Amino acid sequence: MAARETANPGREPVLGSATPDSSLSAMASETSQDLVVTCTAPVNIAVIKYWGKRDEALILPINSSLSVTLHQDQLKTTTTAAISRHFTEDRIWLNGQEEDVGQPRLQACLREIRRLARKRRGGGDGDALPLSLSYKVHVASVNNFPTAAGLASSAAGYACLAYTLARVYGVEGDLSEVARRGSGSACRSLYGGFVEWQMGEKADGKDSIARQIAPECHWPQLRVLILVVNAEKKHTGSTVGMQTSVETSTLLKFRAESVVPERMKEMTRCIQERDFQAFAQLTMKDSNQFHATCLDTFPPISYLNDTSRAVIQLVHCFNTHHGQMKVAYTFDAGPNAVIFTLDDTVAEFVAAVRHSFPPAANGDKFLKGLQVSPAVLSDELKAALAVEPRPAAVKYIISTQVGPGPQVLDNSHVHLLGPDGLPRRDP
Ligand code: DP6
Repeated sequence: MAARETANPGREPVLGSATPDSSLSAMASETSQDLVVTCTAPVNIAVIKYWGKRDEALILPINSSLSVTLHQDQLKTTTTAAISRHFTEDRIWLNGQEEDVGQPRLQACLREIRRLARKRRGGGDGDALPLSLSYKVHVASVNNFPTAAGLASSAAGYACLAYTLARVYGVEGDLSEVARRGSGSACRSLYGGFVEWQMGEKADGKDSIARQIAPECHWPQLRVLILVVNAEKKHTGSTVGMQTSVETSTLLKFRAESVVPERMKEMTRCIQERDFQAFAQLTMKDSNQFHATCLDTFPPISYLNDTSRAVIQLVHCFNTHHGQMKVAYTFDAGPNAVIFTLDDTVAEFVAAVRHSFPPAANGDKFLKGLQVSPAVLSDELKAALAVEPRPAAVKYIISTQVGPGPQVLDNSHVHLLGPDGLPRRDP
């Protein structure tokens, strides 16, 4: 008998009940008794980097890390998950392409969310599955930015998957464990503002969780510029890269044990006190140390290219000219630069980037995202920049700010899956 599920009041209209939450829309036509949910999740950029696992299977890190959540107006993943008694297998589509649902990390997320759902409903592992848990799931996910370009697409992607599946299966509470199983840094995308991922000590990873240290409204002057140097897929993925680093780099071991613990405290203070001078310096130092551990890896890994290094030089020249830290860079496992600055400096720094990396023909598309007023560089600053201009080396800039965590979209038109449970052509 098709029992009505009651264990998730207010969130689960699964089996034919009217939903009190318009975000959880019943699917139309033959599948009208099933559930579909669409959510979005943000990208995060680490200012104290995660690099290295102590447990590959559970994705437990060798050090804690801290990140800034970027605004979803500019960068986000959107994910729709639907469950139905009519689906015969779990299926997933990423940016319109069907992917292998058997990928171990995807499987780990699905297993984990179903385990949590079962636990929440009081069913032991041996009990018969509640009905909706026995249903197969279809998932469709899209990014509004280049995938695997070093822009943390996997973080936003797995955070969005965890958050959306949690809604579908009626799981509440912290989802760090689910997101982390997809990609370590994804657990930090579960929250807005400023987020730490505590490495934890337990062997089972129960205390390896993400936690917000300050909300997105905490430091409104803080601005973020992403200098897209190369939107191609990166060569050495983070997973493989950090594995080799753990195996071969003594610098990484030293960093994890003796450097990061203090830096976590100091970075938390910088953020809490909105101390941009110290924040900027520590952000740059931590990025540099992460890339130093990559070079200390054997064989060495280099994610930065000549343009990345020219951006580093530009930032230091800019700061030296001003006699203080006006801008900071950080780089993940790719050549794109993420710049932190304050709102009073954005216009001048963008003008400096235009000066040093003159845009190609599509000059009007050079700046995307938040508006930046034009600024004129002084001759002194131009002279101080001392960087040989590199035409078109920076492809474009995304101008953004600190933003909120995942959101549920409450309009049924946004679903990426149609009533037949397959990706819609016109989402
Ligand atoms: C350089 O989270 O992508 O961006 O856990 O293997 O999926 P896996 O790695 P991932 O690594 C991110 C590394 C980083 C630094 C950071 O985001 O902290």
